[in-house]
Amino acid sequence: MQKLQLLGGITPAQFLRDYWHKKPLLIRNAIPGFKPLLSLGDLASLASQNHVESRLIVKTDGSWDMLHGPIEALPPHDQREWTMLVQGVNLYNEAAEALLRQFRFIPDARLDDLMISYATDGGGVGPHFDSYDVFLLQAQGRRRWKISAQKDLTLVEGLPLKILANFEPDEEFVLEPGDMLYLPPHYAHDGVAEGECMTYSVGFRSPSFQELGENFLQFMADSIDLPGRYADPGLTPAKNPAEIPREMLSTIAEELNKVRFTEDDITIFLGEYLSEPKHNVFFTGPENPLTMGRFVSAAGKKGVALSPKTLMLYRGKNLFINGESFAVSRTDKAVLAALADERALDGEAVAGASEDVLEALYAWYTDGWIVLR
Ligand code: SIN
Ligand code: CO
Repeated sequence: MQKLQLLGGITPAQFLRDYWHKKPLLIRNAIPGFKPLLSLGDLASLASQNHVESRLIVKTDGSWDMLHGPIEALPPHDQREWTMLVQGVNLYNEAAEALLRQFRFIPDARLDDLMISYATDGGGVGPHFDSYDVFLLQAQGRRRWKISAQKDLTLVEGLPLKILANFEPDEEFVLEPGDMLYLPPHYAHDGVAEGECMTYSVGFRSPSFQELGENFLQFMADSIDLPGRYADPGLTPAKNPAEIPREMLSTIAEELNKVRFTEDDITIFLGEYLSEPKHNVFFTGPENPLTMGRFVSAAGKKGVALSPKTLMLYRGKNLFINGESFAVSRTDKAVLAALADERALDGEAVAGASEDVLEALYAWYTDGWIVLR
């Protein structure tokens, strides 16, 4: 793989080997000449919407206040020490989505979202740590980052946000537009705006095993098949009526031990789970959808692209899109895997697709999962 300016002139393989989960990396000029993709107005308008996750953090006389969105009004610009954070900007803005996709040397299954923060002078979220890796790209203005390899991650109790009780920075940098800082999980950090600034965070997802286990059992609940019903033809009179009979226990244990799962079950669970849109994501199909015939002819010329909100993954013969799974033939798999990897298909690829694929594309188009290019 080639060296990337985005990673400071090293290859993704070198980055993953030497830094990922291991140590911070400061990259000056990761994106030369970077200009913010959204204005403060654009960001505020996203934050004012119900389905967009946002927070407003205001520090007054050293004490923290946090408000969850929708954010109707912002504090005045000349008021110091406040910050607004907007999650999932990539879902609503194509340029933000394209920026997030520059990080696809890490699989989609691990990429989460692009968060944008705006802060006035002195603003920030305080010294804290995150449970995930993060790339912090300075988009506008300057931010002073203090970071620490400290092991003491004790938090101040009783605050509305996570603030480290004993933050002792060991390094400090001021980031300018286009500079980027990578931090591994659990690395203590504190970013303070120097004048007005905007910072973009590329975040990752790493579900806890507990969360995966609970969701897997729910998934399995829909797919287990245990025929028959408990019976006890050999029942003898109860000596202690409240005691559960030993035979009942062993018969039921034997039946429940028939619950098995295979790697295929885990694949389908994981694909559906990871491609499930977040609860606040809603799709809107075209207002006046084309008929199937017209859609096929238009898509066969112009091609189609995934909506920025669509999550599409695959593994083996299984394809996953927005929480649904399909087992597909080898030829259909080639077309649909290309759609998932490229997040688009050109006209030629659509024109050569099978009837099954065209039907699926049309359904996804009417649901707003894909769009005509
Ligand atoms: C910010 O953008 O202010 C906070 C990002 C972070 O520290 O994770
Ligand atoms: Co953080």
